This record gives sequence, structure tokens and C-alpha cells, in this order.
Amino acid sequence: MKIVLAGGSGQVGTMLARHFLAGGDEVVVLSRAPRPAPWRTVAWDAATVGAWAEELDGADAVLNLAGRSVDCRYHAKNRRAILESRLAATRAVGAAVQACATPPRVWLQASTATIYAHSHEIAHDESGQLGGDEPDAPAKWAFSVDVAKAWEAAATAVDLRATRLVLMRTAMVMNVDRGSIFDVLLRLVRFGLGGTPGDGRQYVSWLHEADFVRAVSLLLADGRLDGPVNLAAPAPLPIAGFFECLRRAYGRSIGLPAARWMLELGAFLMRTETELVLKSRRVVPGRLRQVGFEFEFPDWRTASADLVQRWRAARSAGAVRQRGLPQ
Ligand SMILES: NC(=O)c1ccc[n+]([C@@H]2O[C@H](COP(=O)([O-])OP(=O)(O)OC[C@H]3O[C@@H](n4cnc5c(N)ncnc54)[C@H](OP(=O)(O)O)[C@@H]3O)[C@@H](O)[C@H]2O)c1
Repeated sequence: MKIVLAGGSGQVGTMLARHFLAGGDEVVVLSRAPRPAPWRTVAWDAATVGAWAEELDGADAVLNLAGRSVDCRYHAKNRRAILESRLAATRAVGAAVQACATPPRVWLQASTATIYAHSHEIAHDESGQLGGDEPDAPAKWAFSVDVAKAWEAAATAVDLRATRLVLMRTAMVMNVDRGSIFDVLLRLVRFGLGGTPGDGRQYVSWLHEADFVRAVSLLLADGRLDGPVNLAAPAPLPIAGFFECLRRAYGRSIGLPAARWMLELGAFLMRTETELVLKSRRVVPGRLRQVGFEFEFPDWRTASADLVQRWRAARSAGAVRQRGLPQ
């Protein structure tokens, strides 16, 4: 297959590009700042149709992952960039698909599991309640939900003749790359800070990289899947248990708990938002289960043990390389 990854230079795009390349597919990444990579990278501005659009003509699939990172303080300038970068890139991809003589069979559009309501009791499959006006959530959490809704609407507004559109409502994808979400969480645990944030009841939805890339391959192949699809492991869990598993997997007996005010201070210092750890995201994979998708890592205990093992192997291989020793 020829697969075009718009905004494919980041965390998620790199996982997918590696996976498809290893499977013998042709991978093209669209980037605003092309850098050398094992796959072809083509320049685009993530906003207007240009020469890059020719890459989509005759391609099998396009995945759109582009957008300003949400890992920042949500002040007015960043909020505007988070929203506008996603809408502009999605509209540009849509216009490019429409202009193709032979459009891609499938367009996988990034969305997020954050679109669902803050929820402790109810697990949300694709028919679940969307967020934005929960009485027990701070008003400022509505922003992420509004972005997700507008992002999906920008894709579904495109009139597609021959292209299947899937909206990937993805939970946190866990892998061991440097700077990944898992790398950051494990660093907290390693420094004895991986205790319970807030009251610890908020759910974490997550997905192991191995299942993420297999699920994306299924979305490409299975013509029954269109519209919103949750990409999340079937067993989200409260964050207290989530960190307990991670501590156990790494071999740390204690982790300092963090009260809400400590999290606010920490988030301010780390230039991020507490919503990322305080919103309860209880999201389950309804459509994937309907079509019989089997998770290799359905529960966090097994997934975290595997990820810690991979993390240690990757870091010790890296240390050997840095010292110039034979591997
Ligand atoms: N990571 C997760 O677990 C997760 C979960 C749910 C949803 N998502 C969503 O999935 C998408 C991909 O996630 P990711 O973790 O790979 O994100 P990422 O590492 O931040 O990468 C996103 C890519 O978007 C491009 N980009 C950055 N700022 C931009 C801007 N202002 N305008 C246009 N393009 C811009 C960048 O490519 P260039 O600089 O090369 O142009 C970057 O490589 C994101 O939209 C994210 O919100 C991620």
C-alpha cells in the first residue's frame, strides 16, 4: 500500500510509519519542516493545497494527525493554535482528497478519546455521551471537547465520493520512545513521584503501541468501519491503580501522592494542564470489539510490565551505543 501520513513526524506518526515500513508499505510523511527519516518526507504547510496533494492521488490511504501539541498551557494564544492548526490541516487534507483523480480508499482522521464526558461510573463506547457540559467538571475542560468536536466536524463536512472516513477517537498510546507519554509517566515513578494524583478515582484510558498499530491496520482494511471508532484498551482503570501497576512493574514501592494544588503548581511549572491527569476518561472500544479485534494487551498490569521491560531494553541498548561498546 501507499500510505500518506499528514503530520506524521510526531509520536503517533512515527509509530505508524515504522510499522507500515516494516510491513513493506510505501510511507510518505507530510511535514512543515522535513527532516531525514527512513521514509520519504514531503513538505506541506498544513493549511493550503499545494504540490504535496499529488502524493494523495492514487495512494491507498491518508492519515491526518497534524495539529499543535495539546501538551501546553491553555491560554488564549495556545488555544487558538490548537484549534486552528487542526481545522486548517483537516480542511487541506479534505480538499486534496476531493481534487484527486483516484482518491485514497480510506481517510483515517485523528480525533481523541477526550471527546467523551468526564465519567467515573459509565464506560463510553462510540454511542457514549460527549463532554462539554458535565456538572461535575471544571468549565475550562470544555475546550478540549469543543476542539475534538470541531475537528471531527471539519472532516465529516467534506463531501467524499469514494473515500471511507474513520474518526479515530484515540486514548493515550503507550510506547517507550524518548519523550513519549509513557516515558514521562515512568520518569515520575522512577523519581518517587508516581503516587496518586488528586483523589485517584479518575479513570485512565490507554492503549499499548502494539495494539494501536494493529488496530489502525484493521481500520485500513475493514470496509465495515467508518465514522467514530474508539482506539482504547478494553480495561480503563482508576489512576490510583494505574500508577500502582506502573510502580510494581518498575519495582518502586512508594510514590508521593499529589494533592490537587500540587498538581496545579506542577502543571504550571511544566507548562501543561492538570486536565491531562484529572479528567476521568472511561472509554471502551465498542466498534473494534464488534468486528472481533483481539487485544494483545487488554489489561494495564500486563501492558505496563511489558512496557517497562521494553523501556529497560531500549535504554540499555542506547547506553551501549553511546559508549561505543559492541552490542
Ligand atoms: N499521542 C497520543 O497518545 C494521542 C492520543 C489521542 C489523540 N492524539 C492526537 O493525534 C495526533 C498525533 O499525535 P502525536 O502525539 O503524534 O502529536 P505530535 O507528536 O504533537 O505530532 C503532531 C504533528 O503535527 C504537526 N504540527 C505541530 N504543530 C502544528 C501546527 N501548528 N500546524 C500544523 N501541524 C502541526 C507536527 O509535524 P511537523 O512539525 O513535522 O509539521 C507534529 O509532528 C495529534 O493531533 C493528537 O492530538 C494523540
